[in-house]
Amino acid sequence: MVNKLIWILLLSASFYAKASAQQHGTPGPRLALDFNRGWKFFLGNANGAAAPDFNDQQWRMLSLPHDWSIEGNFSAQHPAGNDGGALPGGTGWYRKRFHLAENLRHKRLYIDFGGVYRNSQVWVNGHELGMRPNGYIPFRYELTGLVHYGQKENVITVKVDNSRQPNSRWYSGSGIYRNVALITTGDVAIAQWGTFVTTPHVTSASATIRQLTTIRNATGKTRRVVVECTLLDSLGHQVGKQQSAISLNDSLTEVNLDLKLVRPRLWSPASPYLYTLVTRIFQGKILQDEYHTTTGIRYFSSDAKKGFSLNGLPTKILGVCLHHDLGVPGAAINHRAMERQLQILKDMGCNAIRFSHNPPAVEMLDLCDQMGFLVMDEAFDMWKKKKNKYDYSLDFEKWHRKDLQDMIKRDRNHPSVVFWSIGNEIREQFDQSGTVIAKELAAIVRELDTTRLVTAALTETDSSKNYIAKAGALDVMGFNYKFEDYDKLPLNFPGQKFIASETTSALETRGVYQSSDTLRFWPRSGKEKYVKNGNADWTVSAYDNTAAYWGTTHERAWVEVKKRDFLAGLFVWTGFDYLGEPVPYPYPARSSYYGIVDLAGFPKDVYYMYQSEWTNKPVLHLFPHWNWKAGETVDVWAYYNQADEVELFLNEKSLGIKKKTDDLHVSWKVKFEPGTIKAISRKGGKEVLSSEIRTAGKASKIVLKPDRDRLKADGADLSYVTATVTDEEGNLVADADQLITFSVAGAAEIVGTDNGYQAGLESLKSHQIKVFKGKCMLVVRAGKKTGDVSVKAISNGLQAAAIKIKLQ
Ligand code: GAL
Repeated sequence: MVNKLIWILLLSASFYAKASAQQHGTPGPRLALDFNRGWKFFLGNANGAAAPDFNDQQWRMLSLPHDWSIEGNFSAQHPAGNDGGALPGGTGWYRKRFHLAENLRHKRLYIDFGGVYRNSQVWVNGHELGMRPNGYIPFRYELTGLVHYGQKENVITVKVDNSRQPNSRWYSGSGIYRNVALITTGDVAIAQWGTFVTTPHVTSASATIRQLTTIRNATGKTRRVVVECTLLDSLGHQVGKQQSAISLNDSLTEVNLDLKLVRPRLWSPASPYLYTLVTRIFQGKILQDEYHTTTGIRYFSSDAKKGFSLNGLPTKILGVCLHHDLGVPGAAINHRAMERQLQILKDMGCNAIRFSHNPPAVEMLDLCDQMGFLVMDEAFDMWKKKKNKYDYSLDFEKWHRKDLQDMIKRDRNHPSVVFWSIGNEIREQFDQSGTVIAKELAAIVRELDTTRLVTAALTETDSSKNYIAKAGALDVMGFNYKFEDYDKLPLNFPGQKFIASETTSALETRGVYQSSDTLRFWPRSGKEKYVKNGNADWTVSAYDNTAAYWGTTHERAWVEVKKRDFLAGLFVWTGFDYLGEPVPYPYPARSSYYGIVDLAGFPKDVYYMYQSEWTNKPVLHLFPHWNWKAGETVDVWAYYNQADEVELFLNEKSLGIKKKTDDLHVSWKVKFEPGTIKAISRKGGKEVLSSEIRTAGKASKIVLKPDRDRLKADGADLSYVTATVTDEEGNLVADADQLITFSVAGAAEIVGTDNGYQAGLESLKSHQIKVFKGKCMLVVRAGKKTGDVSVKAISNGLQAAAIKIKLQ
C-alpha cells in the first residue's frame, strides 16, 4: 500500500514538475505524458467500478501495455479455441488514480489510447467518455471540464470486454495492450493527427514538402495566428522554413505550407533517411503549440508491366505478413520486442511488411520508418460478412467509416506506408455488395490520402466473379495464393497492377527433420487434421516440403513471383510464427506453423533460403543436425549464394559437388556415419564459405547467450537470452529436451520463456521450460536501476550456466 501511494505521488509530482516548467503563467506548448504506470487491474465482473469511490484495494497493480490473455494457461476449454491461441478472453477492468496540477486548470486535456482489445468503455470520475469496439484502432477522449485540479483525486476506469468468443481467427490478446498518454494543449492547438505531410514534387535536385496543418481553436473567438513550419535534417539542422499568418474563425482550420528543399536525401529501405517537421503556432510572440512530425522523402509507382518502383528504381517488394503478437510478451507492445522482430527480418533481406489484418501499433510504423521497411497497412479482415461468430462484422456497419478514417489519419505521415489495404479475403468479394462497399471504403481512403496505393487482398482470379475487382476502386490488385493463375491475371484484369499480397502458407517446426522426398500438402479433405505425425507429437518437418492445400513451399512461391516482373512483389505468410491458427492441428497445437522464424525468434532453416536470395551477404546454410541412427539415409540440404557450386564431405570424404538448377537449394542423400558433415561453397574454383556440423555426444551443459548484454535501465528494454544444451565440446544436442529453470538476480525480471514448439503447453510466462530440439529462449526485462544483473540457468544432470547483463 505504501509503495502504491509513493507511486501515485511520484507520478503526480513529475506531472507537476513538467507542467510548471513550461507554464510561466501563459498557455505553453503541449505536454505528452506517459500514462502507462500505476494502473490497477481486475479480471472478472466489477460492475460499479466506474464510480470514483469504488473500492479497488484488492485489485492488482500493474503497468501498461498489458495483455491478460498471455498470463493465462493454455487450455482447450477457452472459448477462443486453439485458433485464438487456446488462451483466455473474458472481461477486465483497469483503474488509475491521478492528480492534476493547479496550473493545468486552463489547459485542454486528453487521454490517448493506442489500442485496447476489445470493446473498451472509458469513464473519468464517473462520467462515461465513450466506447470503442475495434481492438486495433487508437482513440482519444477529451477530459477537459471533467477533472479536478490540485489535491482532489481523479480516477479513470476502463472496462475491456473480450468475453464474446470466438471473435478472431488468430490470437488477439486482451486488455490495454498498447500505450496510453495524457496530452495537454492550449486552447489554440494542432488537432489530433493534425499534420499531413506530402511531397508533391521530388527529384534528386529538389523536393517540395507540403504540410497541411489542422488547427483547433477552442477559444470560441477569432484568433489571428502565425503558423511556422521548420524542416530539420536527421542531425537536427534546419534545412527549410516557411510561415503563414491566418485567422482562426472556426473551431477547425486547415492551412497549407510548402517548403522547398534542395538535394533532398531520399528515404528507402536501404537508406531510411528521416526529416522532422516542427510546426509552431504563435499568437503575437507567444508560442501556442509545437508539434513534431517525422517524415521521409520518397516517390513510388506501380506499373502494369514492370511492377513496383521506388525513387525511380525497379524494386521488388520482398515482404512478409505479420500478426501483432510478440510471442512471450503476447500482444502487449514493447519497443525492443518489435525492433528485434524487424531486425531479424531485415537481416534476412526482407524489405516490406504487411500488417495483417489490422492496423499495427503506431510504434511499429515508427520502427518501419527508421529501419527501412515498406508497409501495407491493412484495415479489415472482414466487412459485414463474418468469419467468426462474434467478430468485427457485428460492428462494421456502425464503425467502419470512423475506424478507417482514424487509421489513415494516424498513419499517413509514415514514409514506410505505401499501400492501404481495405480488406483481406473479404467474403463480399463473391456478390454485388462487394462492389458497393469496396467503392465506399476506397473513397473514404482517398478523401484523406491520394498519395498511397489502395489495394485489397483478393482470392477470386476470375474477373466475372470478383465483385470487389468490379468496383474498379483499387490502384493495385492484391491476390492471395493461386500462383497457377498468375499468368491469367493480366488477361483477366487488363491494364491492372498486381501484387502477391499473400503467398506460401508452408509449415515447419524448427529442428524437426523427416524425409524431404515428398511434398506434403495437407489434403483438401482436412483429414490430416486429426492424425498425429510419426513423431507422436505435433511437429512438421523443417525441410521446405509441407504446405496448406491453398499454399506452396517457400521456394515455389518465391520463384513464381521472382520470374514475373509485372508482380510488384510478395508478402510471405508469415515472417514469424504467431499464437493461434495452428491449422491443420487440433489442440494441444496452439500457435501457427507458417513462420519463417519460430515464435521464440529462432530462424527455421528456410530463413537462409530467403537470405541467400534477398541479400548480398554470402550465405551457406547446411542442415540437418548430425545425430542419426547408424546406416540411416539422411537428406542433407544447403542454401547458398554467390558461388557456383557446393561440395559436401563426410568425415573428409567427398560426397560430390552440386549446383542449383530449378531448386533454390542443393541436396544429397547420405548414409549416416558419426563424425563431421561439411559443405564448402566455391566460385570459380575458389572457396567462398564453409560450414560444418559435428555429431554431438552426451548432453553435458547449458550455454547461455544474450542477444544484448547491455540494456537501458528504463523498465522496458529486453534481453533475449538463448539457452542451448550442448555436449562437452559445445556441439548442440539436437534432440535435447531437458527442463531448464531460470533465475535473475539484480534490477531486472523475467518476462517469460519459449522454445518455439507449437504445441508446448507450459505458460509463456513460466520461469522454466523444456528445451526443444536443443534450444529455448529466456526474455529478461530491465528494471529502472543501473547495475549488473546475473542470469542463471539450471537443469538436472547438466552443468549450470550464468551470464551477466549490464543495465545502464
Ligand atoms: C489466408 C488468410 C490468413 C491465414 C492464412 C493461413 O487465407 O488470409 O489470414 O489464415 O490463410 O494459411
